[in-house]
Amino acid sequence: MSGLTAYFGLIDIGRPEPGQTVVVSGAAGAVGSVVGQIAKILGCRVIGIAGGEAKCRLVVDEFGFDAAIDYQNEDVRKALREHAPAGVDVYFDNVGGDVLDAVLLRLARGARVVVCGAISQYNSTKPQGPANYLSLLVNRASMTGMVVFDYADRYAEGVAQLATWRAEGRLKSLEDVVSGGVAAFPETLMRLFRGENHGKLVLKIAD
Ligand SMILES: NC(=O)c1ccc[n+]([C@@H]2O[C@H](COP(=O)([O-])OP(=O)(O)OC[C@H]3O[C@@H](n4cnc5c(N)ncnc54)[C@H](OP(=O)(O)O)[C@@H]3O)[C@@H](O)[C@H]2O)c1
Repeated sequence: MSGLTAYFGLIDIGRPEPGQTVVVSGAAGAVGSVVGQIAKILGCRVIGIAGGEAKCRLVVDEFGFDAAIDYQNEDVRKALREHAPAGVDVYFDNVGGDVLDAVLLRLARGARVVVCGAISQYNSTKPQGPANYLSLLVNRASMTGMVVFDYADRYAEGVAQLATWRAEGRLKSLEDVVSGGVAAFPETLMRLFRGENHGKLVLKIAD
């Protein structure tokens, strides 16, 4: 599901073109790591946003992104000015909140913002909306929500393409497997919100 979310969200909603700049948050995670790799395959310049030095290193060294921004220790707005001097053509958002607001300020004209998720807001009783939404107006940009299930009749296409890229060695998939069975589900789920997973978080329930 993560790979298909990345595939359809980026290709159908993000519509990146070769040479364009693509930014993705949650970049070391299941969806984000695939988004960035597909964008590289399509000839884009790719910047990932992730929490902590180790994840930023993973994003560049393992997944082949051009640059990574550590949102926990860097000023995202400043770093985007440096890494995306001509602006951001596609922003694939997995986290919402302050990171979304920082990227909105850096949009290029005609940019596409893919609203895939907003993990920073899921546990909030008062979710924070984007304050910098007027950047969509100024830049003639769009912000579109996507849900992977809407693409059910095209899953075969996505699976075939992702499998081909993987077989060719152009797409890496990283799984973070936790043991413990069903009893460990609540604690394992919380790892997503603490940023403790690298790649797709999987709970092993049996051999
Ligand atoms: N629209 C759809 O159809 C669809 C389908 C599947 C998933 N999704 C969404 O896609 C997003 C990614 O899902 P995933 O399964 O690939 O998860 P993931 O990225 O593998 O794991 C979640 C990551 O979110 C980051 N995070 C947690 N709290 C955060 C915060 N307060 N601010 C910023 N980042 C935070 C953490 O990374 P850091 O350590 O880097 O902070 C964590 O590792 C989620 O929002 C999910 O709901 C949407």
